[in-house]
Amino acid sequence: MTFPVSRQGLEQIALVLLAGAAVFALLAWRARAREGGARRSLISAGALGGLAALALLVGYAVAPNIPTPPVPLTARFATNPVPDIKESWDAGRATYQKNCAICHGPQAQGDGPAAFTLNPRPFNLQIHVPLHAPGETFYWISDGVAGTAMPAWKDTLSEPERWQLVRFLYALASGRA
Ligand code: HEC
Repeated sequence: MTFPVSRQGLEQIALVLLAGAAVFALLAWRARAREGGARRSLISAGALGGLAALALLVGYAVAPNIPTPPVPLTARFATNPVPDIKESWDAGRATYQKNCAICHGPQAQGDGPAAFTLNPRPFNLQIHVPLHAPGETFYWISDGVAGTAMPAWKDTLSEPERWQLVRFLYALASGRA
C-alpha cells in the first residue's frame, strides 16, 4: 500500500497550518500587554507550527513525491473520441516512439536515454497511466507537467494524435498493445 497523501499535498497542508500559526502569533503580539493574554495564542501558534513541521516531516520521510499537478475537474471527465482499436494503438505507438521514447523509454517504463539526466525522472507510465483517468492523462500530455521536464504537446501534436497516444498508453499498460 502506498501512502495516501503525496508530498506536494502535505506541503500545501503545512502552508495552511503555518498561516494559522502566523495569525495566532500576531494575536499573541497584540495581546502582549495584557496579563496572561498572549499565553493561549502562543500555545495555539506553537501547536499549529508543530503540526506544520510534522506534515513536512511525513511529507519528506514517507509520502510519495508525486509532482503531477491536479487537473481541472472538467478535463478529468473528457472522453476519448478515438476508437479503442489496433489502428489507434499503432498510430499512438508511432507518435510515441518519435516524440516520447527519448525520455519515457521504448516501453514507457521511464528508462529512455534522456531519463537519467532528469529530475524528477519520468515514472513508469505502464504503472502510472492506469492510476489516472484518460482525461487526466490527455491533459498532462497536452499541457505538460509543471515543475518537470514534461513538455506541453498541444501545439505540436493534433488533438486526435494526443488521444491516440492515450489509447496506446492504456493498451500498452494492459498488455494489449
Ligand atoms: C524531455 C523529456 C520528456 C519527453 C520528451 C516527454 N515526457 Fe512525459 N514526462 C516527463 C517527465 C519528467 C514527467 C514527470 C514525471 C512523471 O509523471 O512521469 C512526465 C510526465 C508524463 C505523464 C504523466 C504521468 C503520470 O501519471 O504522472 C504522461 C502521461 C506523459 N509524461 C506522457 C508523455 C508523452 C505521451 C510524451 C510524448 C508525446 C511525453 N510524455 C514526452 C518527461 C518527458
